[in-house]
Amino acid sequence: MPFVNENFLKLNKNYLFAEVANRVRKYVEKNPQARVIKLGIGDVTEPLPVCVISELKAAVDDMSRRETFQGYPPYEGYEFLRKAISEFDFKRRGIDIEPDEIYISTGAKEDTANIQELFSIHSKIAILDPVYPVYLDSNVMAGRTGNFVDGIYNDVEYLPCTIENNFSPYLPKKKVDLIYLCFPNNPTGQVLTKDELKMWVDYAIDNDAIILFDAAYEAFVQQPGIPRSIFEIEGAKKVAIEFRSLSKTAGFTGTRCAYTIIPKELYIKDKDGNKYSVGDLWLRRQSTKFNGVAYIIQKGAAAVFTEKGQEEVKKLISYYLENAKIIREGIEALGLKYTGGINSPYIWFKVPDGFTSWQFFDYLLEKFQIVSTPGVGFGKSGEGYIRLSAFGKREDIIEAVERLKNFK
Ligand code: MLT
Repeated sequence: MPFVNENFLKLNKNYLFAEVANRVRKYVEKNPQARVIKLGIGDVTEPLPVCVISELKAAVDDMSRRETFQGYPPYEGYEFLRKAISEFDFKRRGIDIEPDEIYISTGAKEDTANIQELFSIHSKIAILDPVYPVYLDSNVMAGRTGNFVDGIYNDVEYLPCTIENNFSPYLPKKKVDLIYLCFPNNPTGQVLTKDELKMWVDYAIDNDAIILFDAAYEAFVQQPGIPRSIFEIEGAKKVAIEFRSLSKTAGFTGTRCAYTIIPKELYIKDKDGNKYSVGDLWLRRQSTKFNGVAYIIQKGAAAVFTEKGQEEVKKLISYYLENAKIIREGIEALGLKYTGGINSPYIWFKVPDGFTSWQFFDYLLEKFQIVSTPGVGFGKSGEGYIRLSAFGKREDIIEAVERLKNFK
């Protein structure tokens, strides 16, 4: 009989959002009449852009004719999509990212979880605290984090993002090899200015580190001076990988399409100092373990990178940001301290004294039938906080805020 991979035993029993879903399911089973409003996982509710729908339909038709039928997609994605991304996300913003530096996938979740396979098991990792749990969990599974003691893994360099540093992390105290950054941040909604992000790029250059930059929420950036890509920063192409996604930008959480940018300048070395292209290693990994994103989906995704698509996406983002504003104002009226919700679809607030994150999660669910995400699920420094997601139907957001007015 094979033995279990003991790294899995170091994980929390359930993935954060699976645990939230379990608790909600149990609550609904017991209270079938309850009208639960879900502001937990960041899942979109508005339909796909019209131009995406027509391309999806046209692509279905392509699959019905022998002349236009498509089999296995290219491992790195179709060129038509990579070219469109290069043009709309980068070249038009003055950033030189070529189509062959873009790798299409089914999600930034998958890519941020899988990228660690390219790096030595002895690589030291730095992770924001709190942050999207996938970076940490995937490294725990790989066996890179050490043991879990008092809420932390002892081989991980945590970068606390707390009220004390305005949710903007300090540079690592110890030497690290891989730095996971996520801005606009999930869960705090905080952003970094160009100068702040430059500090991280300079640090990576000076310390031979690689930054794994999750930009899944870049489309929500509204304020000038806030970078939407790490490649806006000089020198970043030598030290960074960026993860981007259509999930939150264009309503693709269920449709699945994302893309990872690995610049050609990015190399890693073996212990003898030989250099290897990170992009080549990623393609080697993907072509072994992944068979690409469906042609139909990539055709639909390409419609996002057109004038019409960009206009439609802007409307979607404005809709969710207006939701965020309604939630922010509701939280503020309750006298609770919050951050986020301006360049981000997430609002992060301090729970009232006397509650832990999970206790307040239960309280919101039981008293107001509102699903939230407990801050501690994103890391130890998230204890005492709650995240509300602005993804939702406007009428539900308004009702949730109305319900919360009865909070004492
Ligand atoms: C979240 O709620 O943090 C995200 O929706 C989860 C994800 O993107 O996988």
